[in-house]
Amino acid sequence: MKIGIISDIHGNSEAINSVLKNIKEVDEFICLGDIVGYGADPNYCIEKIKDIKCRCIGGNHDFAVAGKVNINYFNYAARSAILWTSLPLKKENLNFLSNLKRRIELEDNVFAVHGSPQDPLLEYILDKDTASFIFSKFNFKICFVGHSHLAGCFSFSENNNQVNYMNFSNGGCIEINTNKRYIINCGSVGQPRDGNPKASYGIYDLKNKAVNIYRVSYPINLTKSKIINAGLPRSLADRLSYGR
Ligand SMILES: [Fe+2]
Repeated sequence: MKIGIISDIHGNSEAINSVLKNIKEVDEFICLGDIVGYGADPNYCIEKIKDIKCRCIGGNHDFAVAGKVNINYFNYAARSAILWTSLPLKKENLNFLSNLKRRIELEDNVFAVHGSPQDPLLEYILDKDTASFIFSKFNFKICFVGHSHLAGCFSFSENNNQVNYMNFSNGGCIEINTNKRYIINCGSVGQPRDGNPKASYGIYDLKNKAVNIYRVSYPINLTKSKIINAGLPRSLADRLSYGR
């Protein structure tokens, strides 16, 4: 059994299409939220997620568009994109966002949230102190997260109580160790922020106990021109070239 893990598509149709073309031999997909926001193709991306029958949780941008998170929480560019996204959104797609869950179970002690188990929508797990607190407060083997758009893995060793971080901005393999617990971010499909502009996704291999993270190129210039032509903030197009 292999599960394709995608997150933070952010209305980027070119990136999700490249990722889906690249993913092979998975039995199921899960999406960790932020299907929309920032990008110019929100309806397309929601409909793509529906097409692949993907189990999906909502992100802060999805719920902000659905009116369930206060947009004052967001910076200017994000707020502009949320307001822009809500205009062309079809009613059925708005309902889809509005009804998304906040947590998905993959198997015993393995689950996925958008931000963190303690605050599924808004908390970023960016440092070892935060990860350490989450490991102490929640009992899981693996927690998959999105939200930060940074591909990487925090691991907690039961032997010495140490938390380590490994950057996976160029992809790689995480072999699941029986004596460790993990917080894994497979990166962002549509707006990577880890310095690598290529779209990021993961595959969780339940039988072989491994998570592989992959990067795939997509036609960034086409995505950028759509964002600019839509009248969205220019910074949202520019940042795609740098992966920041
Ligand atoms: Fe996001």
